[in-house]
Amino acid sequence: MSARDEESRSLVLGIESSCDETAAAVVANGREVLSNVVFSQADEHAKFGGVVPEVAGRIHLDSIEPAIQQALDDAGVTLADLSAIAVTAKPGLIGSLLVGLSAAKAIAWTRDLPLVAVDHIEAHVYAATMEAQADVRFPAIALVVSGGHTALYSVGSTFEMERVATTLDDAAGEAFDKVAWILGLAYPGGPSVSKLAESGQAAAIRFPRYSPKTPPGGSGGVRPIGFSFSGLKTSVLYHVRGGDALQPTPPPEEIEDRADIAASFQEAVVDSLVTQTLRAAGQAGIDQVLVAGGVACNQRLREVMHKEAKEKGIRAFFPSPAYCTDNAVMIAGLGWQRFQAGRVADLHLDASPR
Ligand code: KG4
Ligand code: ZN
Repeated sequence: MSARDEESRSLVLGIESSCDETAAAVVANGREVLSNVVFSQADEHAKFGGVVPEVAGRIHLDSIEPAIQQALDDAGVTLADLSAIAVTAKPGLIGSLLVGLSAAKAIAWTRDLPLVAVDHIEAHVYAATMEAQADVRFPAIALVVSGGHTALYSVGSTFEMERVATTLDDAAGEAFDKVAWILGLAYPGGPSVSKLAESGQAAAIRFPRYSPKTPPGGSGGVRPIGFSFSGLKTSVLYHVRGGDALQPTPPPEEIEDRADIAASFQEAVVDSLVTQTLRAAGQAGIDQVLVAGGVACNQRLREVMHKEAKEKGIRAFFPSPAYCTDNAVMIAGLGWQRFQAGRVADLHLDASPR
């Protein structure tokens, strides 16, 4: 690298603590990853089958400083080399967000560095563009699909996103987590259910796919778009109870067709996600789709989305798996873009759960 490139390289430290991952990363110029530290709390929450907010906040408090130090060490830099600090300010668990935000403010204040507030959802979407920046054109339709969110956005630019559809109830990742619990598989459910699904038949059981009803009075010939996964989860539960809701749920080792259930459930989720996303893109006349969030790791979703998008003349972009689940690279990356655009926060910045 020439001295000139070195000079024009600006480093942002990203901090992410909105849910159950304490993460810190150093990224140069919004896309060159110098370090990516993620301390997962999954094992701590596994015994409860989901994230416990009080537990999450307490662990963030212990992990935040070591995570930041490791991100700087791995990148081979010190605080003096940074141009800005970016931090997730919303949405998320308030007690968890405040830990990352307080750390970021303290560093910004003591080192006299600009502080940049990043929206966690926008950062997930940015991750899908980060590795393929030159190829992605706006407008795009973004599907953000994780343990806490399942929604579609119309994306006008790196900084402009408008929600066009969401889930009526559970997020898709939450459905994976609950079905894993029913089947006696490890938390988080996405990886364990999709692993078991590899040895099952996706067509074995026809679980329901939600499709929003046209409202009374019609919707002007346009099919409504949306998601719902709680009916699907209940169907899985009834299936394991032998179709009789009054029966108790059998212990996992007594469920004979576990792999078929996992594969058929996954197929139903993937079918809904792909159908609704491509419908949104088609209706808006948009030919670029961005898929982000933890569930975007899912191989079957990647496969079906790419295939069906291609048939419709649409290009689909996914981040690398490491940047699908919660991470601070996406925070530092989008943070750099915001910093470059002069979108800097002040030290009164507050965290918000929404
Ligand atoms: O984005 P993320 O790390 O955290 C939230 O913001 O929620 O997403 C975590 C979610 C979990 O529900 C997990 O089960 C799901 O992403 N997940 C997957 C896969 N890997 C993670 N779901 C389906 N297939 C996967 N391979
Ligand atoms: Zn997330």
